[in-house]
Amino acid sequence: MRAAPQPDAPTISRHIYGHFAEHLGRNIYGGFYVGEDSPIPNTQGVRNDIIEALRELKIPNLRWPGGCFADTYHWKDGIGPKEDRPSILNVWWGNVKEDNSFGTHEFLNMCELLGTEPYLSANVGSGTPQEFADWIKYTNHPAGTSPMPNLRAENGREKPWGVKYWGIGNEAWGCGGNMRPEYYADVYRQFATYASDWNNSDGIYKIASGASSSDYKWTEVLMKNIPKNLIDAIALHHYSVIDWGNKGPAKDFTEDHYFAIMREALRMDELVTKHVAIMDEHDPKKKVDLFVDEWGGWYEVEPGTNPGFLYQQNTMRDAMVAGATLNIFNNHADRVKMANLAQAVNVLQAVILTDEEKMLLTPTYHVMKMYADHHDATLIPLEFESPTYSYQGESLPAISASASRDSLGEVHVSLVNIDAHKPHTVRLDVSALNLQSLSGEILASEALQDHNTFDQPNRVTTRPFDGARLANGTISLELPPFSVVMLSARGK
Ligand code: AHR
Repeated sequence: MRAAPQPDAPTISRHIYGHFAEHLGRNIYGGFYVGEDSPIPNTQGVRNDIIEALRELKIPNLRWPGGCFADTYHWKDGIGPKEDRPSILNVWWGNVKEDNSFGTHEFLNMCELLGTEPYLSANVGSGTPQEFADWIKYTNHPAGTSPMPNLRAENGREKPWGVKYWGIGNEAWGCGGNMRPEYYADVYRQFATYASDWNNSDGIYKIASGASSSDYKWTEVLMKNIPKNLIDAIALHHYSVIDWGNKGPAKDFTEDHYFAIMREALRMDELVTKHVAIMDEHDPKKKVDLFVDEWGGWYEVEPGTNPGFLYQQNTMRDAMVAGATLNIFNNHADRVKMANLAQAVNVLQAVILTDEEKMLLTPTYHVMKMYADHHDATLIPLEFESPTYSYQGESLPAISASASRDSLGEVHVSLVNIDAHKPHTVRLDVSALNLQSLSGEILASEALQDHNTFDQPNRVTTRPFDGARLANGTISLELPPFSVVMLSARGK
């Protein structure tokens, strides 16, 4: 393996490390938001332990309110006195009552508490361009300029929040309206037209609902039919799932299932490469970014939990999915400018799980925290051929890696060995980097199925790693089976 720094290498946007909070299961209610009267310590109704944990992750952005929920969400239901807010049914996720007690103010104020950028997903499937434009005015325009900002001020918030990221629909090919790409491209153009004035003087950043996994036609049609002045990013969703009818258990899985999930997770590299190739054809100057705004492992829900709530445990396998996927995004940092793990709390590949007053950090949380050193650092391309992880006649690359140099000149290398059995030796030629004083951190455990529980919340956690050596311009180390290692070194 060789570090090959390039003068024009891209910055790894911190937004690649983004998260997603849908009104789904116990993500918002009973997760982030317990209400101001809860005995669980909170600030403005948001759990203090979650605020603290996500601030430690340096959470760069948070996408809300969906997902599929977004295209049924009418934001005006969620403002004003709580007792006057209408209740609706959350038809996508368990048909449960949504009392709208967590709305625009609660979400945007929470983002301020977290120190994170909001990413709002607007209702295109069942909403109107007017409703969308009104939401932008409500959140972003100064009071006194039109009825919407005045209403915001009446509701207790004088100063606009200034939301930059706006998704125009979600999964428009499915729960967002079952549209054909040609039709959605036209609808997108209409909605985008009313997002801002002609000069986009309020700096709105517009994201088109993107393809599902390998639906390259979707990307092709959107890139062809949407004028570049109306679009800033196109999305992509890809979940590591094997069979939607039988997704397999989150924690008591076989090696068969592990191997198949890792194959799907690693497929992200091919998907991004191919979608980017299409984007390059239509946008060679790379004006339009790629946002992978939903990704992660998707399994059967934990036995005994509501199937519509998508609550699953999170094991060392998920740490492998996270580590390898984030390396892929880093290595495509020239076009991938944002990604959102699905989802933050108690849903799918969560970084945090809660049970009443208890809270735990998952193995995926620890990977996100280790990789925070890559935020806004300059990519250092790596050249290497991985050894293989073989299982029943098939093989996958065992090692994945990415590297960066931060603004203080420190170099960071994240390495993942997904092999379920074998350690692998890595020799990384860093002679071009002139490094000294290596330090490291590792996430490893005895079994791939290991996970944290509310009784044993620190069973899987990081520890210092002193197994790497730097000599004669080469870093050498042995990566244990299913482990993630983050190395840091200062330049001389
Ligand atoms: O993340 C769960 C769901 O997956 C989202 O609501 C939807 O966009 C996707 O299909």
